[in-house]
Amino acid sequence: MEGGWPPRRGVLLCLTVSLLLPGRGDTFTINCSGFDQHGVDPAAFQAVFDKKPFRPVINYSVPTHVNVSFTLSAILEVDAQLQLLTSFLWMNLMWDNPFISWNPEECVGLNKLTIAAENLWLPDIFIVESMDEDETPSDLTAYVSSKGRIKYDKPMRVTSICSLDIFYFPFDQQNCTFTFTSFLYTVDSMLLGMDKEVWEITDTSRDVIFTQGEWELLGINKASPKMLVGDNLYDQIMFYVAIRRRPRLYIINLLVPSGFLIAINALSFYLPAESGNRSPFKITLLLGYNVFLLMMNDLLPSSGTPLISVYFALCLSLMVLSLLETVFITYLLHLATTQPPPMPSWLHSLLLHCTCPRKCCPTAPHKGNEGLGLPQAQLPGLKEPVELVEKSPGPGEAEVAGGSGWTRAQREQEAQKQHRVELWVQFSHMMDTLLFHLYLLFMASSILTVIGLWNT
Ligand SMILES: *[C@@H]1O[C@H](CO)[C@@H](O)[C@H](O)[C@H]1NC(C)=O
Ligand SMILES: *[C@@H]1O[C@H](CO)[C@@H](O)[C@H](O)[C@H]1NC(C)=O
Ligand SMILES: *[C@@H]1O[C@H](CO)[C@@H](O)[C@H](O)[C@H]1NC(C)=O
Ligand SMILES: *[C@@H]1O[C@H](CO)[C@@H](O)[C@H](O)[C@H]1NC(C)=O
Repeated sequence: MEGGWPPRRGVLLCLTVSLLLPGRGDTFTINCSGFDQHGVDPAAFQAVFDKKPFRPVINYSVPTHVNVSFTLSAILEVDAQLQLLTSFLWMNLMWDNPFISWNPEECVGLNKLTIAAENLWLPDIFIVESMDEDETPSDLTAYVSSKGRIKYDKPMRVTSICSLDIFYFPFDQQNCTFTFTSFLYTVDSMLLGMDKEVWEITDTSRDVIFTQGEWELLGINKASPKMLVGDNLYDQIMFYVAIRRRPRLYIINLLVPSGFLIAINALSFYLPAESGNRSPFKITLLLGYNVFLLMMNDLLPSSGTPLISVYFALCLSLMVLSLLETVFITYLLHLATTQPPPMPSWLHSLLLHCTCPRKCCPTAPHKGNEGLGLPQAQLPGLKEPVELVEKSPGPGEAEVAGGSGWTRAQREQEAQKQHRVELWVQFSHMMDTLLFHLYLLFMASSILTVIGLWNT
């Protein structure tokens, strides 16, 4: 019984008020008698629905204020080749319709009502950067308050153009713009505003974003310059959406394997140059790296030249260079042990300078030992030079066997040759060490660069 009272009183109030104030009919107050028994009477809103094609203002010199905001609910795709950002937005629009108003006390305590949006005038707000046709579902509804404030939200899949810079891939940040403006209404007819702060938009978007995908929302900024097209000035609000790529996938799939291959390549310098194992090992690594590059090609952005491509190219050339270095050292060793040419004096003094203080070539001491003509003491891995070194005096020995004995000159010549061999072997090892250190230096600097970029 009690529940029946307020509506009836509402109807009575409604009737009395409408009877007492006949003038309120001019201010478009909606007559909601009977809402408690029959639901909303379409006839009560018919006058509003009939005005749908026209901007709802009483005085046409007064612009309509539309408050715009949005919630970014997903970042679906970033296409670097087409320079497109595909995202999902909930666009929120709010404006006043002066032809709608009712007294909630008269109308069964009704404060707000949903009305099918197709029956209402809607502002033609669109996103300038959007490159897709609007796929908004057509049967949306809007909230209408008793004061005539209309709240209209629509979900939008926005494929917007965005200038993407993939130089720092996979540590890149992008700054995409959503410009909300009216398609037709100039500043005389429509003004845009905001009822929220941008940090509120950022916070709700962060809470709402479902995708834990590749992109992370960093922040949203806004600016609202007016746009002049011809003679017409349009109001607009620009939102700058900053997003950052989550690089973990790329670190695990691109940088780590590449780093391992480069590290193994660096370690392969410790394989003795004389053993002949080094170059096959490096060729295998080079092949492996090529296969890696082929497989990882589709993870890289398909356009532009990101720094990481340069890095991969550098790694590849580093491997090629180290292979060339191995070939060069092998050749040098071969030359040194078979027919050593006389060493230029500047090279000799450089060698002495480098090996005697034993400072600039840290590995020189133990390699110097090898070169000091003690073939018996060499490691088992160093068979080849042993043979070569022993073979080279071979013809001399044959001569000796054929002749009466070693003359002093022959002995001296032999000793000189031996000395030259030692010098050249020493030089080869020095070169090897030097190039190895250059290699390490480059490797360290590129790794530091990558880490530095990651941290910015
Ligand atoms: C409100 O509507 C009722 C019935 O629809 C009608 O009897 C009444 O006269 C209306 N009041 C006004 C002020 O138009
Ligand atoms: C309409 O609005 C303009 C500007 O606000 C004002 O100058 C004008 O008097 C208004 N007209 C009426 C009929 O209220
Ligand atoms: C728009 O936002 C401003 C500032 O928050 C507020 O004063 C105004 O009433 C709002 N207008 C509409 C139509 O929502
Ligand atoms: C995005 O770019 C605009 C200008 O193009 C700039 O005003 C804004 O600060 C940038 N935002 C970020 C987060 O870099």
